Amino acid sequence: MAIVPEVASKLVKAGIEIVVESGAGSAARFSDEQYREACATVVPDAGSALDGASIVALVQPPAVEEVANLPDGVSLISFLQPVAAAETVRALAAKGATVYSLDLLPRISRAQSMDALSSQATVAGYRAGLSAAEHLAKFFPMFMTAAGTVPPAKVLVMGAGVAGLQAIATARRLGAVVRAYDVRAAAKEEVQSLGAKFVELDLETQDGAGGYAKEQSPEYLARQQELLAAEVAASDVVITTAQIPGRRAPVLVTTGMVEGMSEGAVIVDMAADSGGNCELSVPGEDIHFKGVTVVGLSNPPASMPTHASFLYARNIANLLGLLVKDGELAPDFEDEIVAGTCVVRNGEVMHGPTAEALGLAPPKPPGPPAAPSAAATATDPVGDAHSPSKEVRS
Ligand code: NAI
Repeated sequence: MAIVPEVASKLVKAGIEIVVESGAGSAARFSDEQYREACATVVPDAGSALDGASIVALVQPPAVEEVANLPDGVSLISFLQPVAAAETVRALAAKGATVYSLDLLPRISRAQSMDALSSQATVAGYRAGLSAAEHLAKFFPMFMTAAGTVPPAKVLVMGAGVAGLQAIATARRLGAVVRAYDVRAAAKEEVQSLGAKFVELDLETQDGAGGYAKEQSPEYLARQQELLAAEVAASDVVITTAQIPGRRAPVLVTTGMVEGMSEGAVIVDMAADSGGNCELSVPGEDIHFKGVTVVGLSNPPASMPTHASFLYARNIANLLGLLVKDGELAPDFEDEIVAGTCVVRNGEVMHGPTAEALGLAPPKPPGPPAAPSAAATATDPVGDAHSPSKEVRS
């Protein structure tokens, strides 16, 4: 859910009218009554919620056929993954929309309060730790009982970004002995600060732009698999979180490595939705292979919807703080965060890789406000910008 009642209340106080479709919050355990108490307007269906909205906040992007239901010239905020959703972007551009995609948010200090990738990765990492503990037929903590001593579970976390660090912290809180590995140099200190042991491999670090890992060569990954096989075989649980932005997730655990694991071992693959770090992963399914359970975690924040929504709504509200002034839409496209997140501006595709995917000319570098595109002439983006901002979630 893109707006929770507490955040709705704050936005209303900031001069933004909030409209919510009846029942939209129920999956995240927020009732219509709570939205009404927060001074939001609850309407019976999505059509009424969208009617006249100047801003639409969503978690997932609309399907191409749903774009027709959005008001012309609307501002849309969601996790768009615009290259993958290029046809949705084309349809939004044709409506003269302005579109912000939270997965493009610059990872800079000033943007941390809006960083929905990080907030949802925190939820995902926590869920991965719990899922591993649930699937393992052993205790995570060490137990010294009258009947004998139970050794702690051995957990290996591969990929120590935001989600991996939260998976480490969760496994540690449950009492497991945790080892972790990442290709970025900075990860070692972060892993150690959580009380886990960093696995050192005789391989070059793979630091890329913006604090992310760069894409690794097939030779590098083959060598990494070879060097990590013994670590994987010695673990009760392997949690994989490795991602390369905009690319298929790297394969870290091959079928051969799974065969080397003990009966009852568990792999939780957090990258299942982007191709999988384990060759055997299927998104949303538990695969049983030669005594090993491979959990393909799919959209983990959806299984913790209250707090996932709470954090996401805070991120949205903080971004709105940059887009709305005195209750009116007034985005500053000179702002690094606004410009970096903007995929489409008044119908013009501004994100280079998406323009390329759509076969459009590369976007012009940031400058003075772009004139509305031909596609937007049927709308009144300036008029929209000055109408009271309206938040909805379909
Ligand atoms: P991510 O979700 O894109 O990737 C997860 C992890 O997988 C990364 O740590 C990456 O190094 C690792 N990885 C990639 N290939 C691997 C391989 N072959 N083997 C093992 N590990 C592999 O990353 P995430 O969590 O979104 O962030 C990564 C970094 O971005 C952070 O550590 C930080 O430097 C930066 N960041 C900055 C923020 C800010 O300043 N606002 C907020 C969040 C992240």
